[in-house]
Amino acid sequence: MMEGAKPPKLSHVAIIMDGNGRWAKSRSHLRVWGHIRGSKVVTDIVEEASDLGLHELTLYAFSQENWSRPVHEIQTLFSLLRKFLLRERTKIIENSIRFRVMGDISRLSPETQNLIRGLESTTLENSGLRLNFAFNYGGRSDIVETFKRLDKREISEEELGRSFDIPNVDLLIRTGGEMRISNFLIWQIAYAELYFSKTMWPDFTREEFRDIIQEFFQRERRYGSINAARDWDYSRKEARKNKELFNH
Ligand code: IPE
Ligand code: IPE
Ligand code: MG
Repeated sequence: MMEGAKPPKLSHVAIIMDGNGRWAKSRSHLRVWGHIRGSKVVTDIVEEASDLGLHELTLYAFSQENWSRPVHEIQTLFSLLRKFLLRERTKIIENSIRFRVMGDISRLSPETQNLIRGLESTTLENSGLRLNFAFNYGGRSDIVETFKRLDKREISEEELGRSFDIPNVDLLIRTGGEMRISNFLIWQIAYAELYFSKTMWPDFTREEFRDIIQEFFQRERRYGSINAARDWDYSRKEARKNKELFNH
């Protein structure tokens, strides 16, 4: 970071929780065992995010593309979501977490859908961590659906940007060693800081999570400018002002 620069603001962390299958395979287990272990790590990281006082955490739990996996694996992932909700419900409420699921949940069992909608409405007014699960989520369809919902022919970047259910991401973490986005929050990560960890998700710990956040605070977010640590929207307003000046 530049001498004297302010550390960047951290409001929203998003995580691509990858590597469950390889973790299991390297231990000669079935892939689903990796998902079971991985779901325990979700509990730890949600707790840590809440303890750290983070504003918002979005977790990629199931992508639209994951439908191409074997039925048995998909069923396991669905049942792990149900179990997670049953297990964590009370803690989520007690810790004043606001819970939401992004994505199309219509193919989940009615029981799981009710659990999700129930927890969403119970925690709607909560002021603690905003916890979003991206389940059966796709970044491109999120953009299309958000635009359709507005029922307009034309739209500004600002207005469309404001209309997403999930705000801009400050820090995107992907575990599992792959360096790609896999159709996650493609609009919202336009200016996110990226962190790729080689750790497989079931081995990811609170300590590594904290270390990555520490590392984030060492970064300098320039947003195309030469000054450090500015908020993206602020910086864009400034850029527009400058452009107007030059047009006169
Ligand atoms: C991430 O782990 C979990 C989901 C995609 C649901 P993977 O299952 O993709 O694990 P790898 O990448 O095969 O190791
Ligand atoms: C991304 O992981 C989806 C989730 C973590 C839920 P994948 O394992 O599905 O991504 P690809 O197939 O390697 O790009
Ligand atoms: Mg994977």
